Amino acid sequence: MADSAKGGEGSADSIFYGRRLHLHDRYDVAGSTTQTIVRFLSTMSTAAIRRTDGSNPGWKVLVVLGLAGIAAAVFLVVFALPYFKLDPDKLSLYRGKEGWIFLHIATGAVALSLGPFVLWHGLKRRRMMLHRRIGAAYMIAVGFSSIAGFYLAIHTNIGWVFGMGLAGLATAWVATTGLAYICIRRRRIEQHKEWMIRSYVVTLAFVNFRILVGVLQAAGVGTNVEQLTAASWFCWAVPLLLAELILQSRKIWRPEFSSK
Ligand code: HEM
Repeated sequence: MADSAKGGEGSADSIFYGRRLHLHDRYDVAGSTTQTIVRFLSTMSTAAIRRTDGSNPGWKVLVVLGLAGIAAAVFLVVFALPYFKLDPDKLSLYRGKEGWIFLHIATGAVALSLGPFVLWHGLKRRRMMLHRRIGAAYMIAVGFSSIAGFYLAIHTNIGWVFGMGLAGLATAWVATTGLAYICIRRRRIEQHKEWMIRSYVVTLAFVNFRILVGVLQAAGVGTNVEQLTAASWFCWAVPLLLAELILQSRKIWRPEFSSK
């Protein structure tokens, strides 16, 4: 495989991180606490995504994907399924938008269910033909669900700040998945993996949304609209930030990104 595809010396990644390491050396900002935090994040992320040399991504990835899959399955059964049983209580919230909510939930369910398999096969670099097929289905599902999600966000009854939070989520969904697609078309394997991880972090946002609203309700914090509005932003912005911390910190300790 070409060096650039592996994120090796000549790749865009190594140039970018080479510059970062250079600045790091110049100002020598890494105190022992920083190093400990970075080492911790790095250990987690090495498990989350290994090199593109086909090495085993490890049991930790399996645990993370398994937990994500379980959370996704619970969300689908508890929150998505009632819509397909034509629960009138649920559907009354979307009068005049029934087609959009069905399209959104059906295709969102496909993306949510396929995500762990796409990531598992991709990170393991096994059964790549199957990976390509379910990856394509995942991306098409994201495309349809995000268009419907965007429509629902700008026509929501809950308020414009809530609508903007979910419109931001739809934009992040298209952007992360679209970049994952562009990267694989250009054979940027390492970057493709990273954007797919970000994409699935965004796909899981609505699961986080329901958990957050549940926690805020249980804690009695704010009004119902405030709870929904806060969750519409926190459910994707915070997980994306955490994913970024993990993805970037691992590169500080990986020898192939070193400028030495
Ligand atoms: C990640 C991008 C997503 C965006 C931007 C998004 C956006 C939205 C919007 C705007 C609504 C309507 C809110 C309202 O005004 O009441 C909604 C509802 C809903 N969405 Fe999504 N969504 C996303 C992902 C998903 C996924 C992956 C699923 C999985 C099936 C899903 C399932 C649902 C369900 C079940 C509802 C109905 C409300 C509820 O019972 O929780 N969404 N979504």
